[in-house]
Amino acid sequence: MEKLGEGKTKEVYLLDGQHVLLRFKDSITAGDGAKSDVLPGKGVLNAQTSAILFRLLERHGVETHYVGMEDERTMIVKRLKMVPVEVVLRNVATGSIVKRLPIGEGEVFQPPIVEFFLKDDTRHDPLLNYHHMRYLKLFSEEEARKVEDLAVKVNEVLKKVVEEAGFVLYDFKLEFGRLDNRLILGDELSLDSMRVRDRSGRILDKDLYRRGFPLEVVRDSYSEFLDKLRRVV
Ligand SMILES: Nc1ncnc2c1ncn2[C@@H]1O[C@H](COP(=O)(O)OP(=O)(O)OP(=O)(O)O)[C@@H](O)[C@H]1O
Ligand SMILES: [Mg+2]
Repeated sequence: MEKLGEGKTKEVYLLDGQHVLLRFKDSITAGDGAKSDVLPGKGVLNAQTSAILFRLLERHGVETHYVGMEDERTMIVKRLKMVPVEVVLRNVATGSIVKRLPIGEGEVFQPPIVEFFLKDDTRHDPLLNYHHMRYLKLFSEEEARKVEDLAVKVNEVLKKVVEEAGFVLYDFKLEFGRLDNRLILGDELSLDSMRVRDRSGRILDKDLYRRGFPLEVVRDSYSEFLDKLRRVV
């Protein structure tokens, strides 16, 4: 099968003209690839978590690239022309926003804050505004507003299910792609791309890895989240 590309955590294979396979690897990375490890089982956990959440979003009327599973670590998805922008929605302040702005760790955003970043590891994913995105031919202002609305819709669905599973959704990152003039949610939805804490503040997401916790702790936590998600979806 023709390999179209490979990123830090997934391989992309051409299935047919309209579809590609996204194969989730066992690699885990942080700091734009500066830190990297292999975590056996992680690819399956993230593929399964993504599949559950994409199916849930589809049921709530959000169009995603998800079509089905080829095997336990490989999603069949619609082939999109990906826009190299990370769309971040924040419910609770943590991570880069508390370093960039006079905002304290744990402050709650109501309504949530949406931010755009250029996917560019060498530049450490710089923040973008509507002018940058128009000039760089990423999103027109109209598209950027549409994507913000989609992120808010995704948040309504994810926040609720994460709460039902017993956790709090701090923030998440989305990537969109184009197909026939539509903007469709692509890539993944996993603990690599969402920050999830329990009600006492215990971290379940990739921040465990960023902060140097043992790999087994990271895997157990990804596995715990998937189990609890399965009970409520
Ligand atoms: N539906 C889709 N159609 C085509 N490509 C997709 C789709 N969903 C995700 N991709 C692409 O799959 C690639 C591999 O994903 P991965 O997360 O490993 O990449 P990455 O490390 O984030 O870095 P980069 O995107 O710079 O290669 C990404 O380029 C992503 O944009
Ligand atoms: Mg990625």
